[in-house]
Amino acid sequence: MTTSPSLNDLRLQFAQAGQEHVFRFWEELSVSDQSKLLERASGIDLDEVNALVAEHIQGDVQDHDGFDNLEPAPYIALPEHGGDRVAWDAATECGEEALRAGRVAAFTVAGGQGTRLGYDGPKGTFPVTPVTEKTLFQVFAEKIARTAERYGKAIHWYILTSEINNDATVAAFAENAYFGLQKDEVHFIVQGLVPAVDREGKILLSDKSTITMTPDGHGGSLRALVRSGATAQMKALGIDCISYFQVDNPLVPCLDPAFVGFHLLGNSECSSKMIPKAYALEKVGHFCMQDGKMVVIEYSDLPAEKQQETLADGGLRFNAGSVAIHVFDRDFIDRVGGTGAEVKLPFHRADKKIPFVNAAGELIQPDGPNGVKFEMFVFDALPLAANPVIIEGARAENFSPVKNAEGVDSPKTCNEDQLRQFATWLKAAGVEIAGDDSGLPEVCFEISPRFAADQADFVSQWAGMDPKPEIADGVIIMG
Ligand code: UTP
Repeated sequence: MTTSPSLNDLRLQFAQAGQEHVFRFWEELSVSDQSKLLERASGIDLDEVNALVAEHIQGDVQDHDGFDNLEPAPYIALPEHGGDRVAWDAATECGEEALRAGRVAAFTVAGGQGTRLGYDGPKGTFPVTPVTEKTLFQVFAEKIARTAERYGKAIHWYILTSEINNDATVAAFAENAYFGLQKDEVHFIVQGLVPAVDREGKILLSDKSTITMTPDGHGGSLRALVRSGATAQMKALGIDCISYFQVDNPLVPCLDPAFVGFHLLGNSECSSKMIPKAYALEKVGHFCMQDGKMVVIEYSDLPAEKQQETLADGGLRFNAGSVAIHVFDRDFIDRVGGTGAEVKLPFHRADKKIPFVNAAGELIQPDGPNGVKFEMFVFDALPLAANPVIIEGARAENFSPVKNAEGVDSPKTCNEDQLRQFATWLKAAGVEIAGDDSGLPEVCFEISPRFAADQADFVSQWAGMDPKPEIADGVIIMG
């Protein structure tokens, strides 16, 4: 039996926090299980757990105040929707300058579990493109490589993983020679975990030696950047803009010059892209103003009447959907993600069905929600930021995530949206191809992200291409 002082200290700390049961099977455990439990327990921030239990379990916390004083958030509209073309051109120029100066890094959050897709492996290794079936990671890597080539400057790529998928993610990059990127320009960051508790606030065990831990949410990405030393590294590299996107969305422009430019010109600490909602009850967050602060209210929190409210012209009043595309200022991340930070992202409570080991050591499979997990949401950074900027993005150029195995936001819809985007780019370059009313082309082809990272890039690349390929099934435009 191990009785090191560190174990005694730890047990005492857990006892003082009302969590002594975590060690209740200690004497029955093998030496290796004891050391596993000890290592895990010593990594838990008990002050944080105490605060979460006090606030979310014992307290009566509501994630949001009333919605009476809610207003739609202002945003910078696209030129085709009344925005100022000159301002967009100036922003693009400013963003391009920042890319040429190496001030911008890409940041992908890929620490989620992707349970809805039901794919066995890190979601970034899921094949998505219509012809060559490139994986999500490869699509982003090629967009990043093309952008670096275009602006003549290396672009560092930070990828958030979790303990669950980090090894498999790193292995996928190694096996694929970093998808053509320089190994030392790709950085993996493992996100934090938080213990799950029961409805009395007691930490759950999934077996006698294992504390149930869950990832701290995409909002945990900010503190992971600080804790891992990534923001310090960025500072040394001269990077101060972090272009944030989710792993499941191959349409996203990983480094959008206009977006970066509006962020910099607006002296913003956190900028976001909105896309107009596809329909009133679309399951996206809503950009709103509340008590003078910019906030995102989840569809699940915003009353349906509000989501459906219309303006005199018939348009939706709360029309600005959040699609998890942001630009962060590095110092802001240090400010809200640092240890002991004065302002922090809040945790949200999610009640879940969590199998657990009871006091008798029996594994219980609950029928309904019995436990609570805690997660931070990245958009909660918005009200903490100075001068937040929101710009409009066109859905067709920004957003088609792979979330579900079938139906909406599935591999099929994403595949079709990629094809529509390729057809639109060709059209912008003066090539019309046959398709249906939704813009879906009749032929299945592909534009390599290594050839062009966005529409403007494609138009100029295509103009210089000689000979140009005939667009037919299976064709890959890659220069
Ligand atoms: P989702 O909310 O879609 O969650 O994450 P998920 O875990 O990927 O999928 P489901 O809900 O289990 O089906 C949105 C983005 O945030 C990342 C995900 O990897 C995805 O890019 N994320 C989510 C993290 O990086 N960490 C988390 O703890 C949660």
